[in-house]
Amino acid sequence: MTTTPASDDDDADDDSALGEKRIRADMGEGTLAFITSPFSQGFDDDERKPSIAVKNVDQYFGEGENKKQVLFDANLDLYPGEIVIMTGPSGSGKTTILTLIGGLRSVQSGSLVVNGRELNGMSREDLVSLRRSIGFIFQAHNLFDAYSAVQNVGLALELGDCPASEMRTRSIEILTRLGLGHRLENRPAQLSGGQRQRVAIARAVANRPRVILADEPTAALDKDSGREVVKLLRERATEDKATILIVTHDNRILDVADRIVTMVDGRVSSNVNVKEADAICNFLRRCDTFTGLPAPALLEISQKMKRERFRPPAKVIEQGAMGDKFYVVRQGALSIFVEKDGVTRKVGTVGKGGFFGEAALLTGAPRAATVAVDSPCELYSLGKDDFTKAVAANAGLRGQLVSLAVTR
Ligand SMILES: Nc1ncnc2c1ncn2[C@@H]1O[C@H](COP(=O)(O)OP(=O)(O)OP(=O)(O)O)[C@@H](O)[C@H]1O
Ligand SMILES: [Mg+2]
Repeated sequence: MTTTPASDDDDADDDSALGEKRIRADMGEGTLAFITSPFSQGFDDDERKPSIAVKNVDQYFGEGENKKQVLFDANLDLYPGEIVIMTGPSGSGKTTILTLIGGLRSVQSGSLVVNGRELNGMSREDLVSLRRSIGFIFQAHNLFDAYSAVQNVGLALELGDCPASEMRTRSIEILTRLGLGHRLENRPAQLSGGQRQRVAIARAVANRPRVILADEPTAALDKDSGREVVKLLRERATEDKATILIVTHDNRILDVADRIVTMVDGRVSSNVNVKEADAICNFLRRCDTFTGLPAPALLEISQKMKRERFRPPAKVIEQGAMGDKFYVVRQGALSIFVEKDGVTRKVGTVGKGGFFGEAALLTGAPRAATVAVDSPCELYSLGKDDFTKAVAANAGLRGQLVSLAVTR
């Protein structure tokens, strides 16, 4: 078994307190006096609730002979404060999902909950009120031609709770942020496509909606204006905990994403939590088995890992058992015990970023130690089959030899 110590460079925040609890008082040196408990219990206190939950949604266009399915069992959870970028080929169903979430189209099958409200079966009136609570940035901007840029933004503010006396100031402030300070009194016809797009964006975010849906918001913009839009959206996500879903082909703004969802042929083909995937990849790099793998291979492995939670005094793995999973510690602290000649000794600890369980998978031998939970833990686990495949598919000669050893 290989273990790594808790990293002490990047986790001073939450792990220092846990460290003190690491060695539980009731675990006397050399004795194993704890009982196994089921895992995944009692952690719901810190669980985030999705603001948008798409479940088993199928969607069709047309009738009879012309009926065509465009969404197939779409599933997607999006959270408050998150910027989600949705990509995928033309015709893959991105705009369809966006319009369903925005209540612009009726959900035909499955469940779609936005800010706690089920859209499937929702009355027209309720759909209209839902739309009002959402900021839309669509390619067809729907600006009012007879009004100036400031007035267009002001009209949106009238729907919200902005005091009338502050509407003009607030409109000017947002438009100026988007580089339109010199175009405040121009009507849409007097603006370029990119400028109109920015007025539409100003209008969509003016009321600080909790959900913002954007279809190619930066396509018509130059690099600097595109960055300004992204900055503004990031502020809304951070300050208002808004959920922001952006459909885009614009690679220049990919770095803003907290989550990247890819649609292919009406299906959600991948859904990557960027920060989490990045953290897992960094953890994996520390493990000999995966060191040196290129980023795409690491990403693929990270996507197969499942998050599991354990509370003390659970034992994650037990000495003598056959290996079935490889574990990386997301947070928490665990102790390693080895039993020999009837005496059990604590031989080490493992904390955030540490890993264990790969030795038994690599060699096929039973677990060489027991790993027990000291403080509530979140672990990423990779099942034996995925572990074996990852090693076999990605490894160089050394890894291939190892994988032969595993499958023999
Ligand atoms: N109103 C409609 N009536 C019939 N079919 C439609 C309608 N709107 C979209 N579709 C079809 O549904 C599928 C998904 O379209 P959608 O607009 O969601 O794709 P998209 O991923 O947004 O594509 P793009 O990147 O080109 O905007 C396509 O095959 C499209 O032709
Ligand atoms: Mg589209």
